[in-house]
Amino acid sequence: MRILLDTANINDIRYFNEYYPIEGVTTNPTILSKEKGNVIENLSEIRRIIGPEKELHVQVTETSFDRIIREAEALVSTFGKNTFVKIPVTDVGLKVTKHLSERGFGVTVTAVLTAAQGMLASNAGASYVAPYISRSENLCADGIGTVADIAEIFKASGSATQILAASFKTAKEVLDVAVAGCHAATIGSSIMKMLISHTTTDTSIQGFERDWRSAYGSSTLLELLEGK
Ligand code: E4P
Repeated sequence: MRILLDTANINDIRYFNEYYPIEGVTTNPTILSKEKGNVIENLSEIRRIIGPEKELHVQVTETSFDRIIREAEALVSTFGKNTFVKIPVTDVGLKVTKHLSERGFGVTVTAVLTAAQGMLASNAGASYVAPYISRSENLCADGIGTVADIAEIFKASGSATQILAASFKTAKEVLDVAVAGCHAATIGSSIMKMLISHTTTDTSIQGFERDWRSAYGSSTLLELLEGK
């Protein structure tokens, strides 16, 4: 399952883009509102950090068909190829999705809470549907099950739409959507760290370092290899 970073924090994006195998960055109006400064400059900086090939998902804020289309055109012309226009799953959103996808835009239909919404978004031509996991589970609904259902529906219909699961509160949810057949997940910085962290990994590494030092002192393997 491919992983994207769900933040607009420049320091976090710089860090995770350097060290982690992330394939892009996703934002929404709430995520953007948490960062100081000019929003266009911040998004341009994100694009500069991740480069032109990785995905940048930016959500529209307009609500009428004509203005969403203008906003989508402006987003792609400002932030370049591999910019995906995030559109909430509404009646207007479906119409916009059909129109933009027919014109070759990448569209991510977001705020998906049910498999039915995911199916409609796919039929409208969405590149991605973004089911919200924790927002679903918080309502005692089965967010992971929704991803599994969407995966089944897409498989049965031969849909080219990919599932980009979002809204995670635990690392376990990320693994669960991967097992459920999800194509991609967008994850906040703290959960990204949880995915790699393990105390036994830390103590194992400490043990390797201790055993090396007790056998070879301050000599490093690299120095020995290079004959120093
Ligand atoms: C994707 O970008 C979604 O908008 C985001 O994951 C929602 O996350 P939240 O439910 O934690 O706000």
